[in-house]
Amino acid sequence: MAEDLSIIAGSKQEQYQSLFPQIKSLLDGEPDLIANMANTVAALKEQFGWLWVGFYVVKKSVGYNQDELVLAPFQGPVACTRIKKGKGVCGASWAEAKTLIVPDVEKFPGHIACSSLSKSEIVVPVIRNGEVLAVLDIDSEHPDQFDITDQYFLEQITELINF
Ligand code: SME
Repeated sequence: MAEDLSIIAGSKQEQYQSLFPQIKSLLDGEPDLIANMANTVAALKEQFGWLWVGFYVVKKSVGYNQDELVLAPFQGPVACTRIKKGKGVCGASWAEAKTLIVPDVEKFPGHIACSSLSKSEIVVPVIRNGEVLAVLDIDSEHPDQFDITDQYFLEQITELINF
């Protein structure tokens, strides 16, 4: 496909419905995981303009026989590199293997503030064969930005990626 994204105005659902097939064709036939994560976060950031959109991938930690989340392709301000299981919203989503929607990050116990501008957050785990392999993390400068519509479409989008 052409590498230009078609950006539309409209409801959240309309925006996802326009974006979904575009992400699908960007990923289609491309086996490289880093390229696919990179284009997915770029497309989401371009359409929605959120503060931060990125992946953390489950990897062995340096020097320990223990897994942790390690920063992967993202768009937005620099962010913390490693997150332990159960820590922050990302680590909790990994531990619980479920999507977490946080309307007010200050009310989430243990929230990791990579940017003081972040007010709300959604984290979607990438699950394959019952195992969490990564999480998609999105931060907004506005409180209460994310809801079940975001959860529905973001879960579908993460399903497209060849983890
Ligand atoms: N806020 C996240 C940390 C990652 S940054 O938002 C990019 C958390 O609490 O897990």
